[in-house]
Amino acid sequence: MISSGSNSATSNSTTRRRGSWRSRIAFYLLAVGSACGLGNIWRFPYVVGENGGGAFILVYLFLSLTIGLSVLIAELIIGRSTGASLLKITRKISVQTKKPFFWFGRLSLFISLVILAYYSVISGWVLHFLTQFLVGLFHQEQSQYLGSISMSVLMENGLLQFALASVHLLICGFIVVKGVTERFERILTAVLPIFGILVILILTRSLSLPSSPDVLRFLFYPDFSKLNLTSLGHAMGHVLFTLSLGMGVLVTFGSYFKQDEHLPTLGVRVALVDTLISIVAVLMIFPIAFSISNKPLTDPSLLFEALPKLFMKIQYGQYFGLAFFICLWLAALNASIALLETLISNLSDRFLKTDRFSSAWIVIAVTLFLTVFPAFSGTLFRNLTLMNQSLIENLDSVLINYLLPVSVLGMIVVFFKSMNEMDYKEKFVSEQSESSQMLVKNWIWVLKWLAPGLIILGIVLQLAAVIKNSLLK
Ligand code: TRP
Repeated sequence: MISSGSNSATSNSTTRRRGSWRSRIAFYLLAVGSACGLGNIWRFPYVVGENGGGAFILVYLFLSLTIGLSVLIAELIIGRSTGASLLKITRKISVQTKKPFFWFGRLSLFISLVILAYYSVISGWVLHFLTQFLVGLFHQEQSQYLGSISMSVLMENGLLQFALASVHLLICGFIVVKGVTERFERILTAVLPIFGILVILILTRSLSLPSSPDVLRFLFYPDFSKLNLTSLGHAMGHVLFTLSLGMGVLVTFGSYFKQDEHLPTLGVRVALVDTLISIVAVLMIFPIAFSISNKPLTDPSLLFEALPKLFMKIQYGQYFGLAFFICLWLAALNASIALLETLISNLSDRFLKTDRFSSAWIVIAVTLFLTVFPAFSGTLFRNLTLMNQSLIENLDSVLINYLLPVSVLGMIVVFFKSMNEMDYKEKFVSEQSESSQMLVKNWIWVLKWLAPGLIILGIVLQLAAVIKNSLLK
């Protein structure tokens, strides 16, 4: 068994001070901040659109509050009990069991690296809109200008996408290397509530559009005939992505917590807030999308095509637009920093014998190289399509719908191998709450049976859909 207890909590080399979170509220905001990001606001709406609405949302909610939540708590507990990075933990288990479990650690880091590259490209899109709204402030004909903001400029210009992603990554690198992450976090904790208020304002305006009854029917009236072979896998992938699971980020995060922090309670709050924000995001985007066309977009440009149309209609829309994209970009920056920090601390633990500064730039250089693929997906690599999907869509699907679930399977194995039953039960049960005695059984059952079962089923059904499609051709 991997050592458990407070003594090991100092063994991980990161810049943050373990067990010394500034205040409870800031600490919660950060936990929520690492889960909430582009996944909720940008990805969830178009995935819901792609998968037909209400029935998919039900599947998503079910998976989020069972499997998502259970794995979230497990990852935090692994981190706090072992105090080590995922790569180190999997290597230790491999040595002890003489089985190649270290591959799970490597897989999760590989996913983090590619997701960081992909995430940077989308963050670059956000930066593009941010600058467009900024420039708009100085335009004479503002509403005309706002009407001209669209995705097409970006889609036709791979170099611009690459440049924006590079700017985003370099800013991340600068923040991490300079060790000013804490200062950035302070800014973020101040901005998050503003973002919340802004989103609620946009939401109320959006729901007052005449299309909202249709939207409510689409989102909350489940039509199960819309589900198909890929729905389970897509819902699973998104749940894992939006809760930042399977990448070792929460393991690192868990190792910062004080021993007396009750991690299941924290997990429940993070999962609930994350899910709530995703629901708010669809309620915000769909009324606009439905009023633009009766066949709303079901691809990654949905958010960026829809929102500017709303800002165009409202008074001071350009200011709201600017504020919204600044907040969204800061949230994306926070997520990218979390990914980058996890990569650096894992790699410098294991492979890179260099200092933190050099490790950071090595990771950034590799990530920059990887951003080339999603950035030029619509231009240079336009012909690299598979199953009618572009390179960026296939990249998203392979990473999030296939590899991430496999990595979470690994995480579950790591959980059961790195601790004994007494250990994790004790970590789960809170003295203040009797109900946790009862919940612990369900939690373990979900981790042991439901999660692996549904993850494997989701992957098998998606593969069946691929085979079916290629046979039909
Ligand atoms: N959950 C984040 C979002 O919804 C995305 C994400 C996935 C992430 N894995 C992560 C963020 C790891 C930080 C760290 O946008």
